[in-house]
Amino acid sequence: MPAARTPVALTPASDATFTAKYVDLYQKAKRLAWDPADVDLSRDRAGWAAIRRDHAPEQYAEQLERLLALFHAGEESVTRTLSAYAGAAARAELGVGAELHLAAQLFEEAKHYEFFERYLGEVLGVDAAALRAAAVPGAPQAVLVDDLEAVSDRLRREDDPARLPAVLAEGIAHYMGVVEAMLARTGYEGAHAALAARGWLPGLQEGFRLIRRDEGRHVAFGVHAVRHLVARDPALAAVVEATFARHLPNVLATVQAFAGYAHPLVDVDALVGFAVGAYGQFMAAAGLGPDARAGGAGDDADADALAAALAA
Ligand SMILES: [Fe+2]
Ligand SMILES: [Fe+2]
Repeated sequence: MPAARTPVALTPASDATFTAKYVDLYQKAKRLAWDPADVDLSRDRAGWAAIRRDHAPEQYAEQLERLLALFHAGEESVTRTLSAYAGAAARAELGVGAELHLAAQLFEEAKHYEFFERYLGEVLGVDAAALRAAAVPGAPQAVLVDDLEAVSDRLRREDDPARLPAVLAEGIAHYMGVVEAMLARTGYEGAHAALAARGWLPGLQEGFRLIRRDEGRHVAFGVHAVRHLVARDPALAAVVEATFARHLPNVLATVQAFAGYAHPLVDVDALVGFAVGAYGQFMAAAGLGPDARAGGAGDDADADALAAALAA
């Protein structure tokens, strides 16, 4: 008769374990700090004029303007909303490590915003507000700006300690999951690939490279924080899943809008695949979603491996 197997105890990782992960991201942020004012944009002005002149039929300049308007809107929105997360993380007692990371992340989001503000002014010579009014329509405006602002407002105001973790789980799923993992990383992936393949706008390519490196750490924080909150209260897994499901149509509409051009600058199908893959990766690493359920609950090693890859 086979010996009875001892059930594996699913003890939630301790707060101290998560603190170490958050502090590691903070340390990486310090080592990889950069200044948007130092990015060399001297060759981009002539490059931009050439794209306008030589590729009018393909509407490449219009598509790049639209991408830049989305990045500008997104980076401004995440800069203005993140302080709510730092306050909520403190009130929810996620630990000082989470607060250190969020302080570093807020500085980085401010720099990303500064980079696009500078780029639109110095290279395109356009007013960001006017460009955004024309180029950031319903779906991205909702998911990147309006809905993110709404959940951040609720985070700022939630003073019931019993309700705060659910709002924080929703907020982190929206900010680090939907906006950063699905939209920002997908957008930077597509934009970088389009420019690198053509050898265009080296200053913009360099800005994308530096921003993408930061965004990887931000998504890694989101994976750890979701795991941390769900370890404390497994019922929060449903909040995370529902948040992704609610915003998925606006994410896909934002990416698919580029298919409306006769000559899309980006590979729309590949980017939709990238966005959906980013969702699956995020959920699996957080130990949630169908992939994690099919293969057994994701463990700490899954989360750490994804975080390490993202934060490299
Ligand atoms: Fe950012
Ligand atoms: Fe970010």
